[in-house]
Amino acid sequence: MSARETFGGGVAVITGAGAGIGAGLARQASRLGMTVVLADVDAAAVAALREELTAAGGSAVEAVCDVRDANAVEELAETVYRDIGDVRLLVNNAGVEQFGYLWDTPVANWQRVVDINISGVFYGVRAFLPRMMATDAPAWVWNLSSIGGVAVVPLQAPYIMSKHAVLALTECLHLEVKSAGHDHHVHVQAVLPGAVVSNIFESAGGVNSGDAGAAEAQRTAMLDIKAEAMDPIAAAEVVFEQAAEGRFYLLTQPDYVGSAMAERARVLTSQEPPRLRTERRFDPAQN
Ligand SMILES: NC(=O)c1ccc[n+]([C@@H]2O[C@H](COP(=O)([O-])OP(=O)(O)OC[C@H]3O[C@@H](n4cnc5c(N)ncnc54)[C@H](O)[C@@H]3O)[C@@H](O)[C@H]2O)c1
Repeated sequence: MSARETFGGGVAVITGAGAGIGAGLARQASRLGMTVVLADVDAAAVAALREELTAAGGSAVEAVCDVRDANAVEELAETVYRDIGDVRLLVNNAGVEQFGYLWDTPVANWQRVVDINISGVFYGVRAFLPRMMATDAPAWVWNLSSIGGVAVVPLQAPYIMSKHAVLALTECLHLEVKSAGHDHHVHVQAVLPGAVVSNIFESAGGVNSGDAGAAEAQRTAMLDIKAEAMDPIAAAEVVFEQAAEGRFYLLTQPDYVGSAMAERARVLTSQEPPRLRTERRFDPAQN
């Protein structure tokens, strides 16, 4: 089935919809005819996107929601199901980056990554999955992992850890939905973007003491990758098509992310210790 046949017409709830990948997914969901709930802590960003989508003839509402707050996410689910309708697609997308040596990382920055990137996904699952399973309607849950969910990268340990966690959570959730007998209509999929244009590196945390230079050098290196990164609408088109095909791993750049997956499998199979990379092994331009 095509993305339009699969997703057209339902309700999509997207966290972190105010920028980057979330905004791209929201624009594509709207193009496919979905009613889009734009959830974000950035009220101005989601208000502007709602105006853009409705001006183009789409149906969208904004919701100021902090995914760190389990009650706020539960209220979001309650409001959407009561006032808008059953959710066909939930995208647990909100996420933040962190640069610096792990031992220099401020406790608050560590907590920010854990609360948003990991707990935020769990709260979304907890609030929406039971409601999805209560009907026989087809429904999809996409959790945002990353190419970082299958890689190891120094100076980004909290982020990389969080993306490995989301991947494992999503793989377990996929099995749980199956073992609970809901896999005929509830589809759990993991999104692994490669490099997509967004604000994530600009809004990333750094360090206040210790080796701030190393942290900022890593930010600069990642901002350099952004120059070759994929457009968020193009990324969203790929993700929607792969989801409609029924794939579990949704890769914005299949060759680039796929080579990182193969490398991870190779390292684990050979039981090699992690190695520092002296040069970039994966080239986003190869896709
Ligand atoms: N951009 C990439 O290349 C890339 C690669 C791999 C994975 N990802 C993942 O994609 C997801 C989106 O990242 P992005 O690059 O588009 O980032 P971004 O910074 O451009 O957008 C993130 C959005 O999340 C919102 N947000 C932040 N904290 C929030 C909270 N507590 N509650 C609700 N919303 C919150 C921000 O306001 C922003 O609108 C993240 O999970 C990220 O890890 C991105």
